[in-house]
Amino acid sequence: MDKQKLIMLPGPTNVSERVMRAMLGPVINHRGDAFRELYKGVLEKTRHLFQTEGDVVVLSSSGTGGVEAAVWNIIRPGDVAVVPVFGEFSTRLAEAVEMAGGRAVRVTSEFGKVPTTDELKAAMDKQGRFKAMYLVHNETSTGVAAPYIEEATRLAKEHGAFAVIDAISSLGGYAIPVDKWGVDVCITGSQKCIAAPPGLALLSLSKGVAEFLKSSPPKTRYFDIPRYLEYGAKGETPFTPALPLYYALDEALGELLEEGFAKRVERHERMSGLLYDGLAKMGMKAVAEKSVRSRTVVASYYPQGVDDAKFRKALAHDKGVVIAGGFGPFAGKVFRVGCMGQINEGYVSTTLKAISETMAGFRN
Ligand SMILES: Cc1ncc(COP(=O)(O)O)c(C=O)c1O
Repeated sequence: MDKQKLIMLPGPTNVSERVMRAMLGPVINHRGDAFRELYKGVLEKTRHLFQTEGDVVVLSSSGTGGVEAAVWNIIRPGDVAVVPVFGEFSTRLAEAVEMAGGRAVRVTSEFGKVPTTDELKAAMDKQGRFKAMYLVHNETSTGVAAPYIEEATRLAKEHGAFAVIDAISSLGGYAIPVDKWGVDVCITGSQKCIAAPPGLALLSLSKGVAEFLKSSPPKTRYFDIPRYLEYGAKGETPFTPALPLYYALDEALGELLEEGFAKRVERHERMSGLLYDGLAKMGMKAVAEKSVRSRTVVASYYPQGVDDAKFRKALAHDKGVVIAGGFGPFAGKVFRVGCMGQINEGYVSTTLKAISETMAGFRN
């Protein structure tokens, strides 16, 4: 087995020993009282995470399953959805709408930037009424965060549309108060800012979306959200839950709530500031402009001539620090550092030192 390295990926991220140990809990009957108690606690903590009094569900799937659930439960053949597209994950979201038989109206920007709210508004006005807006809050592929969830949600509502936010790589490092902002569906993943292991997707649902789903059941069995709500009311999931992950999520959300949301968000902001500053001091340029740069994924261009694969291999092998490469047009040119969950001064300084020392060897 590989020795534990410092996982500075944009997910999965480092998980505390307390959370890892929680997974050693007993295998129990998922239709028994012990699981019901566990799941009810998980749902309650998940409500705190989304700052909602509405319904939440936890799926035994990675984030992509959460995204598919949000698409297949809302989109019916012929429906139109407005989708800002500014990186790999928002591209996938637009494709997911099309796979469900919908039509995606893409509002595009160059990768590394984000469409403006004026562009979004113009596309929505041109469309008139549509079914939903699907916005990736934090483009993990480029390290850019759309700084306008609340405004985009309001615009979608003005067009009679549901507002769906993919906050898979941001919720926990950012606060997204879904009730206050009117977000209909917000999706996140266990392996990012919540700092649990990968394998669970968490979703919040507004009253409006829950009512729509009751009147128009989706054509999917595994991601049938109305069914999750029906079972969730009794503390169960419709299908066999990934039990050890629910133990871990319960513990990780406990850690998050003990720290307090405001403190956690502030810590993510401060740590990402240290990462951006440290890389700038080494002469490296961030992909994102400061106004839209992400506090959970720090993406930076390599200095000329550094081989991405060799650099990251050396960093992991010699220094025990694991970071990610770039996507699509950024492949080979950009590296990405996760600033999520357990992120602290120690992790940041170890990472910066490792990058600096390893880079020195590559610049010679
Ligand atoms: C914004 C965003 N959406 C969706 C996904 C897909 O999540 P997963 O890899 O957990 O399926 C990711 C994963 O990094 C992501 O960052």
